[in-house]
Amino acid sequence: MEQIVQQIEAYKQEIAAFQPKTAEELEQYRIKFLGTKGLVKALFGEMKSVPNEQKKEFGQVLNSFKLLAEGRYEEFEHLKNGAADASAHQDLTLPGEPHRLGTRHPISIVRNKAIRIFERLGFTIAEGPEIENDWHNFTALNLDENHPARDMQDTFYVHNNPDWLLRTHTSSVQVRVMEEGKLPIRIICPGRVYRNETISARAHCFFHQIEGLYIAENVSFADLKQTLYYFVQEFFGENFKVRFRPSFFPFTEPSAEMDISCLICGGEGCNVCKHTGWVEILGCGMVHPQVLENCGIDSKKYTGFAFGMGIERLTMLKYQIKDLRLFSENDLRFLKQFQGAV
Ligand code: PHE
Repeated sequence: MEQIVQQIEAYKQEIAAFQPKTAEELEQYRIKFLGTKGLVKALFGEMKSVPNEQKKEFGQVLNSFKLLAEGRYEEFEHLKNGAADASAHQDLTLPGEPHRLGTRHPISIVRNKAIRIFERLGFTIAEGPEIENDWHNFTALNLDENHPARDMQDTFYVHNNPDWLLRTHTSSVQVRVMEEGKLPIRIICPGRVYRNETISARAHCFFHQIEGLYIAENVSFADLKQTLYYFVQEFFGENFKVRFRPSFFPFTEPSAEMDISCLICGGEGCNVCKHTGWVEILGCGMVHPQVLENCGIDSKKYTGFAFGMGIERLTMLKYQIKDLRLFSENDLRFLKQFQGAV
């Protein structure tokens, strides 16, 4: 047995000195020490010829030898991926891996498209916080605490301070700009908004809006209509119908909603138009004098209009997408379809 132990010592030294440079050298080591016909296995085979009283001691020697041999192998395992000797085989004349170009998210594409249309009319972009206080999201907009219209926009409140909430619309940005008091105002407010809604093909707990605000002297409802007609024509092209319906919002008076004929089913009826053939795309109206006053603007001198639309809705109509959940699922099969769209 002593002879074998001596032999093991020699192997241990060999293992300690082992410094492979290539995957091949490592493989040879593996075959020699750890393979099915390797030394570790063979030495374990010697166990049967060792006298019983020495078996325990010999077993310990063998086990530590095995661990050493395996440990050394693992230390160099990275060579197996060819990392160390890659340079030897590298053909520097081969073309490089092309960088795959990402695609823009359809929501971004549509947001940018809408922004560009309004920019042509002289609107500039205004942004504000997504976590808002009650004043900017509701109260300044004529929705005081017990106003039933607050129910129209089920709100996520920030737990540790009941006065804070996730904005339910980007009208809060309009309030902030009005409060700054620089007139005239001609802004659009793109951004993400949040509502506590059950997630479905038509609704999500967050979505994106573009709201607009124009305040100056002598702004009329005709200006509002003209601006919005211009927008939908630029955005959707020719083959659709538009209608204006009277509506109600606490912050505008009079108020209206704009529908366009459903571009997904062509007016036949589908889940997006709730089988009516029409899809509501925006709310709008003349800014309520009380809202102007709340923000420190003289409502006798100034008038204005405001509008707000959901970007998801516009995108669904534009690209004939039937399920709004696709926008937030990050499925590359969906997102890649917008390759090349600007
Ligand atoms: N803020 C309204 C909403 O999110 C939309 C709107 C904006 C309506 C401006 C009228 C005027 O539902």
